[in-house]
Amino acid sequence: MPERAGSGDPFAGAHAVITGGSSGIGLATAARLAARGARLSLLARGSERLERAGNDLAAAGADVAVRSADVADHTALDAALAELVADRGPCDILVTSAGVARPGHFLELDDSVFREMIEVDYFGTLYACRAVAPSMVERGSGSMVAISSAAGLLGIYGYTAYSPAKFAVRGLMESLRAEMAPAGVHVACVCPPDVDTPQLADENRFKPAETKAVAGTVKPLSALQVADAIVGGIERRRFLICPGVSTWALGRFGSVLAPALQSGFDRKVAKVRKKGAAPPPVGQ
Ligand SMILES: NC(=O)c1ccc[n+]([C@@H]2O[C@H](COP(=O)([O-])OP(=O)(O)OC[C@H]3O[C@@H](n4cnc5c(N)ncnc54)[C@H](OP(=O)(O)O)[C@@H]3O)[C@@H](O)[C@H]2O)c1
Repeated sequence: MPERAGSGDPFAGAHAVITGGSSGIGLATAARLAARGARLSLLARGSERLERAGNDLAAAGADVAVRSADVADHTALDAALAELVADRGPCDILVTSAGVARPGHFLELDDSVFREMIEVDYFGTLYACRAVAPSMVERGSGSMVAISSAAGLLGIYGYTAYSPAKFAVRGLMESLRAEMAPAGVHVACVCPPDVDTPQLADENRFKPAETKAVAGTVKPLSALQVADAIVGGIERRRFLICPGVSTWALGRFGSVLAPALQSGFDRKVAKVRKKGAAPPPVGQ
């Protein structure tokens, strides 16, 4: 990463591109990187929220540009990234935080939901990585950081659409790490637990009662806590970044813990079903 003369901070002057940078984890990571002197390029679909995020960050002293694009639209994403790179120089840090989460009962979810999760969460990550990787390899430097999820470490009741997309992101980043390491490019996969963001609020509207019993008992982290873990993970060139103690344990010992966790979760689900699970919200 380029460093501003005399600043001593490895993030100073680095060009950080953040998909999903208008909200939640992406926006918090943008703020933390800007505080360390990084130059920001933020991408998301909704231009109003994106402009607001850009203006707020600029008011706090950040050097920031914004572009509206859907990460699931390969051509549109490539065009937006090409413009940002032409204007602001090659990407030194990519954070793919654009994502959607839609829980629900497997038997009740529409096929389109399964497709949307894969298109946005997986392909949106893949397209962004493919756009910046050639230049990072050529320069022998850079970081590509994808936001997966705790649901990308363990399958959880109600996440049959979301979890596979987040497993796919982790599989992609794990394989990519192996290919990028010899070229000097850092690759990371972030697996946060519940985080207090607009996405979590939206997700909660659709969570089956069983999912709430299994996954809704731990206090959500703040987006800034996750951003701090991401920035620290980039600095230390970590691969797996699991903010919070329980997710850290899941990241390290997941395959050992899984059978015990699954039977604990099954007991919670059985309890909810005995009481009579709440019917799914109207429209599902
Ligand atoms: N919050 C949690 O509990 C939690 C836990 C684990 C993992 N995660 C993951 O963390 C990432 C960030 O989530 P968050 O909680 O920060 O959500 P958030 O506050 O809802 O932010 C999501 C961001 O992604 C953008 N986005 C969504 N779909 C997009 C698309 N198709 N193309 C471009 N941008 C898109 C949104 O802007 P527009 O809607 O305007 O496009 C927004 O900027 C996601 O990948 C999520 O799955 C979240």
